[in-house]
Amino acid sequence: MRVYIRPPRPEDERAYSEAVVRSADHLSPWNPVEPDGLPDLLRRQGATLRSFMILNRDDDGLVGRVNVANIVRGRFLNASLGYDSYVPYAGTGRMTEGLRLIVDRCFAAGPDGLGLHRLEINVQPENERSLAMAKRLGFRHEGFSPRMLYLNDAWRDHERFALTAEEWPGAGA
Ligand SMILES: CC(C)(COP(=O)(O)OP(=O)(O)OC[C@H]1O[C@@H](n2cnc3c(N)ncnc32)[C@H](O)[C@@H]1OP(=O)(O)O)[C@@H](O)C(=O)NCCC(=O)NCCS
Repeated sequence: MRVYIRPPRPEDERAYSEAVVRSADHLSPWNPVEPDGLPDLLRRQGATLRSFMILNRDDDGLVGRVNVANIVRGRFLNASLGYDSYVPYAGTGRMTEGLRLIVDRCFAAGPDGLGLHRLEINVQPENERSLAMAKRLGFRHEGFSPRMLYLNDAWRDHERFALTAEEWPGAGA
C-alpha cells in the first residue's frame, strides 16, 4: 500500500488549500473548487457525513479527499461516495488504493467501521476518469438519473453505480 487514510483535521487546512488550488484545472469541470472549504467540511462531520483524507505513505502528501455522504441508517445502511484526487498524485493509482481502504472501512462493523451495507457512486456521463474509477472498484451500473445534482450552475444528469457489502471482497457480509 502506497497510501493510508484518516479523517480530516483542522491542521490539514493549509495542505488542503494548496492541493485544491494545484488541482483546480482537473477538478473544476466536475466538482466545486473550494480551497477554503475545509473548516466547513469539518463542521459538517456527523451522523450523515464522514470524510476521509487519503495520504501518500512516503511523504504524507494529500492524495485525495473522499466524502461518505448522505449516510442513512435503519434498514437502508446506505451512503454516497464523493471524491477528488490531487496533483501530483492524480493518475498514479493511489486514489484507487485509498478508495479501496475507504470502502473496506464503510462495510466494516463498528466501532472502527461505518457498518454500512450499500454504497453509491453517481457520475456525470462525460466524466470518464470517474466512470473508470467506479468500474475499477467493482461498482455495478444501476441506472441513469436525470438532473440529479446541481453542479456548475445546472442540474446535471448522473450515471448511478452501487455496491453492496456481499459484493465486496473480504467484507465478510
Ligand atoms: C475521478 C478521479 C478522482 C480519479 O482519480 P485518479 O487520480 O485518476 O485515480 P487513480 O490515479 O487511482 O486512477 C488510476 C489511473 O492511474 C493509472 N495508474 C498509473 N499508475 C498506476 C499504478 N501504479 N497502479 C494503478 N493505476 C495506475 C491507471 O492506469 C488509471 O488510469 P486510467 O483510468 O487512464 O486507466 C480524478 O480524476 C478527479 O479528482 N477528478 C475530478 C473530480 C471528480 O471527477 N470527482 C468525482 C465526481 S463523481
